[in-house]
Amino acid sequence: MGRCGRLLKGRKRVPVPARSKEQGARSGGDGRVLAPFGRRRTEVVANEVTGGYRIVTALDAEGPAPAAGQFYMLAGERGWGGGGERPFLPRAFSVAEAADSPDGIRLSFLLEDVGPGTGELARLERGDGLLLTGPLGRPFSPPRELNAEAEGAILVGGGIGLAPLALWRRRLAERGVPERSLLGFRDREHSGGLELFRCSEVRLASEDGHAGHRGYVTDLLAVMLQGDGARTAAVYACGPPAMLEAVRGLCAARGVQAELAMESPMACGFGACFGCAMPLRGGGYIRLCVDGPVVRASAVETALVAGAGHR
Ligand SMILES: Cc1cc2nc3c(=O)[nH]c(=O)nc-3n(C[C@H](O)[C@H](O)[C@H](O)COP(=O)(O)OP(=O)(O)OC[C@H]3O[C@@H](n4cnc5c(N)ncnc54)[C@H](O)[C@@H]3O)c2cc1C
Ligand code: FES
Repeated sequence: MGRCGRLLKGRKRVPVPARSKEQGARSGGDGRVLAPFGRRRTEVVANEVTGGYRIVTALDAEGPAPAAGQFYMLAGERGWGGGGERPFLPRAFSVAEAADSPDGIRLSFLLEDVGPGTGELARLERGDGLLLTGPLGRPFSPPRELNAEAEGAILVGGGIGLAPLALWRRRLAERGVPERSLLGFRDREHSGGLELFRCSEVRLASEDGHAGHRGYVTDLLAVMLQGDGARTAAVYACGPPAMLEAVRGLCAARGVQAELAMESPMACGFGACFGCAMPLRGGGYIRLCVDGPVVRASAVETALVAGAGHR
């Protein structure tokens, strides 16, 4: 076990408040943690710059600990829906970090300011109210559920898509499951959040060559899946649709089992509006908010979802 694994094993666990434990035990039967009914107020405890992104952390006194891959619908207590101005609907964010504290769960979100919603969230200050619903959706499955011969996990993140993989990496390390992380960025302005991967074996790629391999993160994945690598691999990916589609194609060509954390425009986040419907291979549709956002790569014909995805 690496230094990081030993540190995590020896880490003193802070007791979870009674309500969290009770609600954390509520499971949808597929590893997902069920959200308490309704929207609740949390308090922002940090908002930090990380490269071109921000990490916003809020203290959730009531909620259960989320599973990696799940997401929350977020809205600022102020600056949201006032006077008919956008943003009106809450916005979906993967949880990047969830840490027990004596006062509740500290939830961290990695976000990129791309519009009115993310702009308001990026401006939140310590003490501000953050309204959230969640945790929502299906989480990642353990490597051995994807591939009985899996010797560990390969995590492939593109840009802001590293967010859900950060929490998955931590959960795998806590269980002593070996993982390797491949992270790719477009350029310096569209990169950040690497501190969420501390203690991890990380290989970097960047399109402008500012960090690691000059090129796509999928170049690194292709090398890793050569030879015996494919037989014992379980791949987890999150990133822009073009990257996810490349991961899906690579894995399909090599017979590698993979899960993709996907995005689509989400108005409600809990199955009511059907705005997030996406087609399945062989017919039929799923609602990505309740049947995803983590889906088996083999279940979809393409990862190119219309209207979704940071470039
Ligand atoms: C399950 C899920 C998890 C997500 N996790 C994260 C996360 O961890 N960090 C993060 O920064 N963002 C995440 N997103 C994307 C985030 O929800 C959008 O960036 C946000 O809704 C944009 O809102 P806005 O008002 O700032 O911009 P808008 O004005 O709504 O959009 C501005 C631009 O952002 C892009 N965009 C809009 N909606 C989405 C979307 N749903 N997905 C991708 N791109 C979009 C479009 O290119 C659009 O032109 C996630 C989305 C989903 C569905
Ligand atoms: S976002 Fe409303 S059904 Fe999925």
